Amino acid sequence: MTEEIKNSNWRLRKGKIIAAKQMTAAEKWFDIRLEDGSLDHEPGQFVQVELYGVGEAPISVCSSPTKRGSFELTVRAAGRMTNAMHKLDVGDYLGIRGPFGRPFPVKVMAGSDLLFVAGGLGIAPLRSLINYVIDNRKDYGKVDILLGCRTPSDMLFGSEIGAWQKRLDVNFLCTVDRGAPDWRGNVGLITTLIPGVTIQPERTFAVVVGPPVMYKFVIAELLKKNVPERQIVLSLERHMKCGMGKCGHCQIDHPKNYYCCKDGPTFTYDEVKASKKL
Ligand SMILES: Cc1cc2nc3c(=O)[nH]c(=O)nc-3n(C[C@H](O)[C@H](O)[C@H](O)COP(=O)(O)OP(=O)(O)OC[C@H]3O[C@@H](n4cnc5c(N)ncnc54)[C@H](O)[C@@H]3O)c2cc1C
Ligand code: FES
Repeated sequence: MTEEIKNSNWRLRKGKIIAAKQMTAAEKWFDIRLEDGSLDHEPGQFVQVELYGVGEAPISVCSSPTKRGSFELTVRAAGRMTNAMHKLDVGDYLGIRGPFGRPFPVKVMAGSDLLFVAGGLGIAPLRSLINYVIDNRKDYGKVDILLGCRTPSDMLFGSEIGAWQKRLDVNFLCTVDRGAPDWRGNVGLITTLIPGVTIQPERTFAVVVGPPVMYKFVIAELLKKNVPERQIVLSLERHMKCGMGKCGHCQIDHPKNYYCCKDGPTFTYDEVKASKKL
C-alpha cells in the first residue's frame, strides 16, 4: 500500500460497535471504535459507512471531536443500507471511510454569538458542533439552541438535552409539532421560536440543520432578524453515490455547480441562495 493510499480518507477502515441504542422507533445510535486509530473529524463532517454485500451510505458524525477514542453515528432507517445498519449491535463490525466534507467553520465563528436551529434528525450533525462549543465554551459568546421535532417521542438525545437545558451559559428552547398528554412544553413549528430569541445580528452566526422543507421558513425568520446572509450556515443533504465529486448525483441546482459531497455539506446562505431548492 502506498503512503498516499494509506493516509487517504478513502481507505476502508474497520470499525467495531462498542455501544448501541435504539433511540426512537426509527433512529438507532452507535458508538464506534476504529481498529487502527482515531477518526480525527471536525464538526459537520460525515463518514461513508460500508456494509459488505449491502452498500454504502453517508452518515454524519454526531459526536464532538473533543470526545476521543470513538465516534458516534445516529441512523434513521430509510432503506436497504440503513435498515441493515439497524440490525447491527455491540461487537459487530462495519467499514468506515472518511471523514469527508467541509466542516462547520468553528474558527471563523469563534468569538461570535451562536444560534443553533435543529429540526428532527438535524440535531445529529449539530450535536457534534454543540458539544464542541460547550467543551470550548470560553471561545464563543451567547449560545441559543432551538430544537423542533414532530412529537415528544421523536426527540433524540433526551438526557443530553436535559443537561443543556440546565446549563446557565446556554439558552435552550424546544417545540413539537404535535404534543402529548404529558407534554408541558411549546407546541408549534420551529419558526415560532425564532421571534422570541434576542440576538445581536451583526455578531451572531445562525447554524441551521433540518429537513429540506424547514430551510426556506427558518431562513426567512433569520433574515427578518437581520442576521447577515454570510453568517447563516446550513448543512445540506443530497442523495450521494460516489461521494467524491465524480458522478454528479449530489449536485446542487446552482450556477456554480456545487457538489454537496465535496463542496459541502455545509454552506453559508449567501453561497447557495441562488439555488431553487435548498
Ligand atoms: C452528508 C449527509 C449526511 C447524512 N447524515 C445522516 C445521518 O446522520 N443519519 C441518517 O440516518 N442519515 C443521514 N443521511 C442520509 C442517509 O445517507 C440516507 O438515508 C441513506 O443513504 C439511505 O440509504 P438506504 O440504502 O438506507 O436507502 P435507499 O434504499 O437508498 O433509499 C431509501 C429512500 O430514501 C431516499 N434517499 C436516500 N438517500 C437520500 C438522501 N440523501 N436524501 C433524500 N432522499 C434519500 C431514496 O430515494 C429512497 O426513497 C445523510 C446524507 C448525507 C448526504
Ligand atoms: S456523490 Fe457523486 S458527485 Fe457527489
